[in-house]
Amino acid sequence: MKVTVVGAGNVGATVAECVARKDMVGEVVLIDIVEGLPQGKALDIQESAPIHDFDTRVVGTNDYKDTAGSDICVITAGSPRKPGMSRDDLLTINTKIVRSVTEQFIPTSPNAIIIVVSNPLDLMTYVAYMASGFPSKRVMGMAGVLDTARYRAFIAMELGVSVRDIRALLMGGHGDDMVPLPRYTSVGGIPVTELIASERLDAIVQRTKTGGGELVKLMGTSAWYAPGAAAAEMVEAIVKNSGRVIPAAVWLTGQYGLDGLFIGAPARLGSGGVEEVVQVDLNADEMALLNESAEHVRANVAALERLESA
Ligand code: NAI
Ligand code: 2OP
Repeated sequence: MKVTVVGAGNVGATVAECVARKDMVGEVVLIDIVEGLPQGKALDIQESAPIHDFDTRVVGTNDYKDTAGSDICVITAGSPRKPGMSRDDLLTINTKIVRSVTEQFIPTSPNAIIIVVSNPLDLMTYVAYMASGFPSKRVMGMAGVLDTARYRAFIAMELGVSVRDIRALLMGGHGDDMVPLPRYTSVGGIPVTELIASERLDAIVQRTKTGGGELVKLMGTSAWYAPGAAAAEMVEAIVKNSGRVIPAAVWLTGQYGLDGLFIGAPARLGSGGVEEVVQVDLNADEMALLNESAEHVRANVAALERLESA
């Protein structure tokens, strides 16, 4: 199989490296507008193959010809946020980039599955969906795997337990109003609410929601190790047709009372892309939080429409 990663910056290069190291596809193509950057990063990753022990071929390019016949495309092209910026501040610049790269990618890979990473995530997934004309099951966004990983990491730190034993669900848009769900979070099968007092759990939920911003403040730009690994995990679920149920920005058609938008929900991923949007019962408080997050995503869609008609 062949995976293209668009954007050879911090996140894109990490996705390419993580996918290559999983040794599960024949070729990873890294493409960027900056000449030399994808070629250099691809070569550097390739030179790590004897050490990491993988056979994946890693190619860097500035030409979409080299992406032809891709099975999966991960779009990371676009600006990251700087301190003081919200993800929404990237809307204007990244819409143009995501639309343009999608239009250039699809003619020679008409059957690919697209995973969007660029921010603002839920809206950029919508932009790629519209620009590709692909069925909605073949377009999704990466946020929930990352946000859930942050949430799981914070719980593991709090309890001094292995992250492996923590299972969690988080829904909603990739903004500070995302919705971690303690009721659907467990540690070795034990509900987390039985192990962590509610004020501490609230603090962990809050840290998760602002986890992206915490890193922007520390580094002056946004994160890439966990985001890259998270996108690679989605690629793996598709490549292996594993049926993993992981949160992703998916097109909703009435599930959770939401219709006609991309937003984070648990999805069963397989070789066809989003094989199913999994539905769980949410109580009134959880639904209210999800609706608030959905309003935020809708506001971004409206802002995009205003921009387009101006
Ligand atoms: P970066 O600045 O390191 O890399 C972006 C790359 O995109 C650059 O190499 C740039 O040359 C390239 N690029 C720009 N226009 C392009 C075009 N038309 N065609 C091809 N390449 C193009 O940024 P970084 O840190 O890799 O972040 C990338 C995006 O991912 C940002 O929008 C960021 O906000 C988002 N992000 C999303 C996350 C999520 O959870 N969904 C997590 C982390 C970052
Ligand atoms: C993150 O959550 C900025 O979306 C990026 O790290």
